[in-house]
Amino acid sequence: MPLIDAHGRKHDYLRISVTDRCNLRCVYCMGEEGIEQLPHSDILSYEDILKVVKAGAELGISKIRITGGEPLIRREIIRLIEQIAAVEGIGDLSMTTNGALLPRYAANLKKAGLDRVNISLDTLKPDQYRSITRCGELKQALDGIEAALKYGLQPVKLNTVLMKGINDLEVNDFLRLTLDKPLHVRFIEYMPIGDHDRGYRDHYLPLSFIEEKAKQAGLPLTPAPLPGGAGPAESYTIPGGRGTVGLIHPISKHFCDTCNRLRLTAEGNLKACLYWQDEKPVRPVLNDKKALQALIREVLAGKPVEHQMAADGICGTVKPGTMRGMSKTGG
Ligand code: 5AD
Ligand code: SF4
Repeated sequence: MPLIDAHGRKHDYLRISVTDRCNLRCVYCMGEEGIEQLPHSDILSYEDILKVVKAGAELGISKIRITGGEPLIRREIIRLIEQIAAVEGIGDLSMTTNGALLPRYAANLKKAGLDRVNISLDTLKPDQYRSITRCGELKQALDGIEAALKYGLQPVKLNTVLMKGINDLEVNDFLRLTLDKPLHVRFIEYMPIGDHDRGYRDHYLPLSFIEEKAKQAGLPLTPAPLPGGAGPAESYTIPGGRGTVGLIHPISKHFCDTCNRLRLTAEGNLKACLYWQDEKPVRPVLNDKKALQALIREVLAGKPVEHQMAADGICGTVKPGTMRGMSKTGG
């Protein structure tokens, strides 16, 4: 029996956060002091992660994304990639990363079986990059993007959180990035996730802003197939461009009706929705595949029809969501 939830959505995608730690401190993701980190002993081991992947693959999970925090700072991450890539039934293995360590790891990641990467990039200005990430160097991220292209971790997608007053004046520069290189820039609406209500209130902009900007700049967005399979993005090309522009609207246009994903947090909790608090630990059933599979089905059965981020139109929600920031859930 495939993994179908109570709302008829088929689930074939698992996102695995392998660490809650990060070498950056992006403003929409963490507080200034970073987050309270899990002790190493609380983090699920690779062997345990693999048990979940194998149990899930037998139920129809065929796509895996490795996220964090920053997955490339976890020790021996290449070993995990190799092991997951070898699991029967896993056909698409991707990673979300800030890219800083890709110059060092891209070649071996590809060799190990990683298909592709999504790289977080919210600005093309070095000062602004330092300010958004609170400590990062733009050049490292750009070198990371080049490394991903060079070693074929493609399609290379860039995650760009649109932020009023922070990067809204750079929209055209991001659009132009898709002209010369086979890069897929995906603009994402700022989500009031974890304790980021304040940032959301100050910086949220709906993605209709991008469409207006593109029109004004004479860079018409033409509908195009999604690069590398399905997903929540609406996809466009600018005529003549080598890449695509994706629009991901978690707030202004719900895409919950097509949600196909489950999540495994770094400490080993299964979550059916990014937003809600509900999660269940896998540890007690890790050594019993049938029980683990039953747990996966149980979590799926409890999956709500949709998130309620910004449900009152401003910021608050009808029911409280999780206080986990993205670094603890995985993008
Ligand atoms: N709103 C929107 N996207 C976010 N991400 C992290 N926090 C937020 C937020 N509050 C996304 C970023 C990053 C990925 C890991 O998660 O795009 O690339
Ligand atoms: Fe790190 Fe990603 Fe969070 Fe930025 S968004 S602090 S790169 S986990």
